[in-house]
Amino acid sequence: MDELGNILIAGTGPVAVQSAVLLASLPGALGIAGRESERSAAFFAALDSTAGTVRAEVQNASHAALAGRCRIEQRFRGYGSVAGSWDTLILTVTADAYLPVLRQLASEVLAGFQRIVLLSPTLGSGALVREYARAQGTDPEVISFSSYLGDTRWAQGTPGASVLTAGAKARIYAGSSRGESPALQRLRAVHETVGTELNILPLPVEAEARNLSLYVHPALFMNEVTLRAVFAAAPPTQYVYKLYPEGPITPSMIHTLVQQWRELSAILTALGGKGVNLLSFMLHDGYPVHPQSIDPAHVAAFEQLPAIHQEYLIYVRYASLLVDPFSEPSADGRYFDFSAIPIRPIFRNDSGHWDVPRMPKEDYYRTKIIQGLARHLAVPCPTIDHLLDAYEGALTQAAQALGDQPRSAAFSVQDFAEDLGMIRAGIGSAA
Ligand SMILES: NC(=O)c1ccc[n+]([C@@H]2O[C@H](COP(=O)([O-])OP(=O)(O)OC[C@H]3O[C@@H](n4cnc5c(N)ncnc54)[C@H](OP(=O)(O)O)[C@@H]3O)[C@@H](O)[C@H]2O)c1
Repeated sequence: MDELGNILIAGTGPVAVQSAVLLASLPGALGIAGRESERSAAFFAALDSTAGTVRAEVQNASHAALAGRCRIEQRFRGYGSVAGSWDTLILTVTADAYLPVLRQLASEVLAGFQRIVLLSPTLGSGALVREYARAQGTDPEVISFSSYLGDTRWAQGTPGASVLTAGAKARIYAGSSRGESPALQRLRAVHETVGTELNILPLPVEAEARNLSLYVHPALFMNEVTLRAVFAAAPPTQYVYKLYPEGPITPSMIHTLVQQWRELSAILTALGGKGVNLLSFMLHDGYPVHPQSIDPAHVAAFEQLPAIHQEYLIYVRYASLLVDPFSEPSADGRYFDFSAIPIRPIFRNDSGHWDVPRMPKEDYYRTKIIQGLARHLAVPCPTIDHLLDAYEGALTQAAQALGDQPRSAAFSVQDFAEDLGMIRAGIGSAA
């Protein structure tokens, strides 16, 4: 069966390489396209030296099915140079790059796609892509995944022909604009072969909403402690998932997190989707804790509990995961320091410009889109507004402190009006 036909992967990061290896088992041609940049130049040079062969290695034997190699025969430097006949476009670029990438593709290439698959979208991305295609006179199936299936990085630390996948999720979600389509079923089968369950949901937006970072990153990153650690000059290291003062987690931050979940759930309901039980999602799709730490009955009843009890349980969840509760303790009784994920500060990128790390840069785009959706749907979102105000305040201050040093666009307050306009139109036309 050849449900996906010829597959073009857009993006030249680690996710693109692991996806190529995963999809290479399907019949049909495999191509890859990237923008012209220093990173992609290094990537394409590496592929030239291996005659197009890419490799995925795994860290744990339990993920062996994700390892492999494949040959990517057709490689396009610059999206404008893509030619040929492609049935499936797999977007592995960040969600804020979907529109710039689609725009650069020649109209006949865009018109040829039967479907567009979004591997790492955010809430509204499916509507955005559908609307852009519609405005160009095409109507491809749009499939949104909840999140990328693994944890993949460059094997040598810099762009090349090999990646290392250090982890894989047991379960992810996907939804198509054409329901449980043959292509979606094929993608589910491909994921099954590598041990990841692909749960199919009725709508793309429901899959987009099943991404834990949408629920936890705004509160974890757009607070005073984390913003200082990201933007202050030479801050001492602090940790994303540690309790105050080693990290940002306080009862008031947890209050914000739970309030934001409530606002996001209301937005999702207004979009026709079904909300998630936050605690159950954290424990069953993220990291589990012992029943001694959180009673499974409380997990099941989470959505009905009073707010203060919900906040208590989420705080207990983070406290229980300061160490990996399922790791083997050392001789002196210490468990693996699971929460020691440093907050990365601003850095100089490959072009020598000051840049903001992916977290919270990606979270800014996602949260602004969520805020725009809330406004459009007339759903109040005071917590989201407050988080964005804090982020934009820190961003503006940091930009001022850098004076005339070169810095990326990530230091500007943005409204992402173009993306939002298209998402609104996409939602309107789907209704
Ligand atoms: N790697 C993981 O384990 C993992 C896990 C979960 C989620 N994800 C998500 O999956 C996505 C891809 O991850 P990755 O690790 O492969 O990331 P990456 O190395 O940053 O690659 C992303 C790709 O997007 C391109 N890109 C970024 N901004 C662009 C723009 N404005 N226009 C055109 N292209 C643009 C990059 O091009 P350049 O190289 O030229 O910058 C690169 O080809 C991200 O959204 C990430 O958050 C990744």
